[in-house]
Amino acid sequence: MNAHFFGRFPSVRLRRLRELPKIRRLVAEVSVSPRNLVLPIFVRPGKGVRRPIPSMPGHYQLSPDLAAEEAQAAFQLGLGGIILFGIPEYKDPRGSSALRERGIIPEAIDACKGAAPELLVITDLCFCEYTSHGHCGILGSLPGQREPTVDNDRTLAELAYQAVVHARAGSDVIAPSGMMDGMIRTIRAALDGEGFHHVPILSYAAKFASTLYGPFRQAAECAPQFGDRRSYQMDPASDPGQALREVALDLEEGADMVMVKPALPYLDIIRLVRDHFPGVPVAAYQVSGEYSMLKAAASQGWLDEKGAALELLTCIRRAGAAIIITYWAKELAPLLEKSSPVLSPQ
Ligand code: PBG
Ligand code: ZN
Repeated sequence: MNAHFFGRFPSVRLRRLRELPKIRRLVAEVSVSPRNLVLPIFVRPGKGVRRPIPSMPGHYQLSPDLAAEEAQAAFQLGLGGIILFGIPEYKDPRGSSALRERGIIPEAIDACKGAAPELLVITDLCFCEYTSHGHCGILGSLPGQREPTVDNDRTLAELAYQAVVHARAGSDVIAPSGMMDGMIRTIRAALDGEGFHHVPILSYAAKFASTLYGPFRQAAECAPQFGDRRSYQMDPASDPGQALREVALDLEEGADMVMVKPALPYLDIIRLVRDHFPGVPVAAYQVSGEYSMLKAAASQGWLDEKGAALELLTCIRRAGAAIIITYWAKELAPLLEKSSPVLSPQ
């Protein structure tokens, strides 16, 4: 026991700052505002389509017209933005539906911006939703290996092309999630080459190969058809220094913001990145499994969902995340401190 502290008792009492709600509120350091939160939306072709995602109660695959209603709600709640995931009309080995100028993502951007022109629209940039094999790029084979694997360098060219498709369609932030080496440099060059210098890149810089993506793969219909993603996503058991190398490289290559994913089991990584790169906005992705676990427990009455969700978000903010991508964004926003309004120039 700490004699230094107990020696001062009873003059020193830490409970004084906890006794009254108004004092707790005064001394609180960490807050979660709607503007910190980004809502993921799954979009599929059609009209009036609203397909529930069984593993993620409260979330749906929506056609662009209904995604637009979500976008409007997100804007009215003061959220930081939305992030779009596309489920295309067809899949092939190359993922060519991701490259169509009138593909699902451009259509969704159009619809969302039509409904909420001021809302920030982020687009996830990857191939796993579009390829028939479900991997995050074009397959190739390495000399001496039997199983095909994602061909990093051929995939880069495709990612660059898809990024330009998103930017042309009006994406406000491009968020590459494929964990290919060199992807940020390639995408940055392609965007700049087409005049999109002003479009920022939010890199999924430290994305771990996590079982917690399971429900998302059902939501986005993108489970790999063979093998897994461990040859490109990070090993949860790797030295945390490797996450720092990923982040450092992405920043060197031109990333504007970096993401750590998942969030809750990787708070140490969030903190590490935050401390090593002051001034770089860090995003954390509270992934599908983090959401589904709590939803499932709450549905049994085992814990209070909203209270728990708010606590988790607070802890993710405390670890150093400026931005949190979360499936609770809409449900929790009304319970949070209102963010200051974005001033318009007029
Ligand atoms: C696509 C992608 C995934 C997630 C976001 N982008 C799935 C994966 O890598 O398998 C997961 C998000 C979630 O679980 O909520 N690369
Ligand atoms: Zn992917």
